[in-house]
Amino acid sequence: MSNRTFTMIKPDATSKSYTGAILDQIIKAGFAVKAMKWTKLTQEQAGEFYAVHKERPFYGELVEFMSSGPIVAAILEKDNAVADFRTLIGATNPAQAEEGTIRKNFASSVGENAVHGSDSDENAAIEGNFFFSNLERF
Ligand code: RTP
Ligand code: MG
Repeated sequence: MSNRTFTMIKPDATSKSYTGAILDQIIKAGFAVKAMKWTKLTQEQAGEFYAVHKERPFYGELVEFMSSGPIVAAILEKDNAVADFRTLIGATNPAQAEEGTIRKNFASSVGENAVHGSDSDENAAIEGNFFFSNLERF
């Protein structure tokens, strides 16, 4: 079991000025920040990041949305990080997310759902490497 996961605060949340509140919830839940940056993806970068969803009907919309504004990317550390972070963010569709989860608190729809969380240790490593060099993580 790895103790690291990867997250992005998505463009809907950064544009609504939820960044600070979301980071506060993440840190209070026991996650330590090991790398972080405020950046904006090109359509090509967003397409590459979500390439696993290429064949899904929502892929075009997802790429458009994820490149529409700034995001915050971060590597987070905690015991059982991947699973615990998925619990903290809640279901993909905020309407189905548990009370108190980040998506329940801050997301508006299944497409614009405030945060990304890695779904496996393997993808957490791939996604962290997508954004951060070894000089940018501590
Ligand atoms: P994420 O990867 O962003 O953490 O989200 P997730 O694991 O909860 O959901 P996933 O199935 O990986 O889907 C990736 C993102 O695609 C958008 N989506 N839109 N319109 C739709 O039906 C639909 N389904 C998924 C969401 O932004 C979702 O987070
Ligand atoms: Mg996913």
